Amino acid sequence: MGKRIQWLEDAVFYEIYPQSFKDTDADGIGNINGITEKLPYIKGLGCNAIWLNPCFDSPFGDAGYDVSDYYKVAPRYGSNDDIVKMFEEAHKLGMHVLLDLVPGHTSWKHPWFVESMKAEKNEYTDRYIWTDSIWESPEGYGSLRGISDRDGSCLVNFFTHQPALNYGFYKPDHSWQQPMDSEGAIATRNAMKDVMRFWLSKGCDGFRVDMAGSLVKNDEDGKGTIALWQDIRSFLDESFPEAVLVSEWGEPDKSIEGGFHMDFLLHFGPSHYNDLFRCEKPFFGGEGDASEFVKKYLENYAKAAGRGLICIPSGNHDMDRLARTINGNKAKIAFAFLLSMPGAPFIYYGDEIGMRYVEGLTSVEGGYGRTGSRSPMQWDETLNAGFSDAESEKLYIPIDPEADRPNVKAQIKDDASLYNEVKKLIAIRQSHKALKNSGEIEFICDGAEGKPMVYLRSCEDEKILVALNPTGEDQILQTEEEAGDVIYSLGELPEISKGKFVIRRESAVFISLR
Ligand code: NOJ
Repeated sequence: MGKRIQWLEDAVFYEIYPQSFKDTDADGIGNINGITEKLPYIKGLGCNAIWLNPCFDSPFGDAGYDVSDYYKVAPRYGSNDDIVKMFEEAHKLGMHVLLDLVPGHTSWKHPWFVESMKAEKNEYTDRYIWTDSIWESPEGYGSLRGISDRDGSCLVNFFTHQPALNYGFYKPDHSWQQPMDSEGAIATRNAMKDVMRFWLSKGCDGFRVDMAGSLVKNDEDGKGTIALWQDIRSFLDESFPEAVLVSEWGEPDKSIEGGFHMDFLLHFGPSHYNDLFRCEKPFFGGEGDASEFVKKYLENYAKAAGRGLICIPSGNHDMDRLARTINGNKAKIAFAFLLSMPGAPFIYYGDEIGMRYVEGLTSVEGGYGRTGSRSPMQWDETLNAGFSDAESEKLYIPIDPEADRPNVKAQIKDDASLYNEVKKLIAIRQSHKALKNSGEIEFICDGAEGKPMVYLRSCEDEKILVALNPTGEDQILQTEEEAGDVIYSLGELPEISKGKFVIRRESAVFISLR
């Protein structure tokens, strides 16, 4: 478990996909200076922390999750100096920045892999996981075969061009599977520590870790991977005790044990996250059922047991835009949920203005169906929505072509906009300790079909009832709680009498309790 970090207590994150945020040099792709320029915007919304998707040199077969140089900002985004300046400017504004660390695999163009493919033994022979012979493919994994002089198949971690780095096997059961403490596996681990040291020394505040639970192989219960991260955590505790780690793992008992401060609630696997937002009948669409989500969430919440945070994102670069399924008042109710749950909330750039999923795009840089969620940020009504001065055909991903596409400038001016609702909700969260990241939660109503979702958030001196009713019907809640002030409301105010609240249709309300 990582040491308690003060700023995480009220961190509200903003995820930036660097390609698509702000282009300041008119080449059609976003850059680091564009992010620096827009820091005051992010701060103005109320977010005080950033997760920046990979920005390192890469052939971009998976939008940068295929790194070819961990030590260099990709020239298309700027220079290492630019990112250091961005860290400094963020810090001046009281904000923190997490980079995206991809420790599980590299690009097949990474010089380590080029060396590892050679038949002669060298420093990088064991940097990746190779079988002893090309005729042996690793069971249960994809592999790269027939592309090297080296006789062997190399395990891949995700796409075919992403060979898996070797951190060893928890239970090796083939001659080519090295144990976790083998020389090659330890060298890989040290190489990744060097990468972390480099960027932490340059001023980043920590990392979002890609596929954090996947590093040690044949590790069904995660014991090996937990031990690996504990070792990395001790290295950090010695040299960079303030370094924050958030994992893409989705099993907070394991990740927190490994030293992560926070774990993501994933949109795949058993979380039921998308029962709320992205399925045929999502709960926040008004007709769905949140009860399986609540059940799973509470299991994980108990596992995290106050030792770390579970983070719920509004979306991310891997899933459909929230606005593809949830809009209007319902989107505001969804944000009332996201911004009143425990754990650090993560807002995906553009979700705060309801940016849409752009339909029908051809895949860009390994995005496939994800491409429509990665289109350029819409700042205003000018050329390319203020994202870039390049010709529109030169944009990295085409911009939402609809005439009524939302934009920041218009929404800032409009009191009734989603932007202003999100801003208001963040401010309310930040002014009530019970609503902040470590406040406790207890569910009163689990949002089973046709029911609202109701929960209590509390800390030593405050208790707040949150009631979210995206359905089209008023809902009656029997409760012994005695209502105090209404802290937030959307839609018609609830009717409150002793023992009974009538929660209005399509409404959200936070009420402080006496
Ligand atoms: C998860 C990342 O979020 C995704 O974008 C990427 O394609 C895979 N990991 C592989 O790194």
